[in-house]
Amino acid sequence: MSNMILALAGDGVGAEVMPAALEVLCQVAKTSRLDLEIREALVGGASIDEHGVPIADDTFALARGADAVLLGAVGGPKWDDLPFGKRPERGLLELRRGLELFANLRPVRVFDALTDASSLKSELVRGLDLLVVRELTGGIYFGKPRGIEVRNNERCGFNTLVYSESEIERIVRVGFESAKKRGGRLTSVDKSNVLEATVLWREVAETVATDYPDVTLDHMLVDNAGMQLVRAPKQFDVIVTTNMFGDILSDVAAMLTGSLGMLPSASLSAGTAGLYEPVHGTAPDIAGKGIVNPLAMILSVAMMLRYSLDAPDAAADIERAVAATLDAGYRTRDIALGLPGETEVGTIGMLDAVMARLTA
Ligand code: IPM
Ligand code: MG
Repeated sequence: MSNMILALAGDGVGAEVMPAALEVLCQVAKTSRLDLEIREALVGGASIDEHGVPIADDTFALARGADAVLLGAVGGPKWDDLPFGKRPERGLLELRRGLELFANLRPVRVFDALTDASSLKSELVRGLDLLVVRELTGGIYFGKPRGIEVRNNERCGFNTLVYSESEIERIVRVGFESAKKRGGRLTSVDKSNVLEATVLWREVAETVATDYPDVTLDHMLVDNAGMQLVRAPKQFDVIVTTNMFGDILSDVAAMLTGSLGMLPSASLSAGTAGLYEPVHGTAPDIAGKGIVNPLAMILSVAMMLRYSLDAPDAAADIERAVAATLDAGYRTRDIALGLPGETEVGTIGMLDAVMARLTA
């Protein structure tokens, strides 16, 4: 049976990392005898330029019918002046919400070869392997009322942080299930000393915990969690948290690996369909120069193989090839330290080095 994959390269460096990812995907599909049908479409600014909207209806329909969606990145200075509801980011947010991709998994792994690329001391990050589970379709990103309006003769901006019990329960369960398969420790991050929505979050997490006697649950306030992530990151196994806290903490955690250019992510619904994208965004400062690190996008393909296509061996092959490429000294600019044994390469050079190790 053929699997339909929708590839949405999007904007900025998305257009450079997507072809690299698809080349890797086609290679492992061949060796693992996976039957894939790859469709491509526009999203974000690219879609605004062509169709006037950040995602067209028929693209959305394609995404709904796909077994998995691969996404590059959306946004860029060209579209910054558009009204809020028409910005490229809406395309991504509508996909997350429309496909009910409520569980965002952001693994943070420090490859041995890159221990020195981190801004933290190498002993703090060597062997680091944690997972951020971020709620993705609720919370302050989507809560109503929201807007900017005039009150008492001045403009007021407002958003709503709201979570129902069922929304909390389903994401916390993903946290527990992930912890069960990993190190057996779950940290639920909230701001329950100030925000009622997260008082409820903490209560629900405690209730769900009774179903997982083999997982240790603890709670941490978000400000402390940010501090602990840069003080002693290896204390964490799995972190589960709200949409906005997860957005912030996953960028912090990402930098522990040395570069945002290394981090893949998966956004999952209750079924097997999912959306896979690098965490790095469009990086307008380096877009079009052929220097972007394609590894986060390539590692996102590995996550797709594991979570949506039931091809864990193919996923492991890609992860091994990436580790071997780094061990061999290949570095894009974002992870280069200028040490002996390193070879600085561009996007294509990195892709070729990975492909050589995949086919070896
Ligand atoms: C992310 C990004 C997005 C978010 C933006 C592009 C809307 O920062 O995926 O982390 O805030 O969720
Ligand atoms: Mg973010």
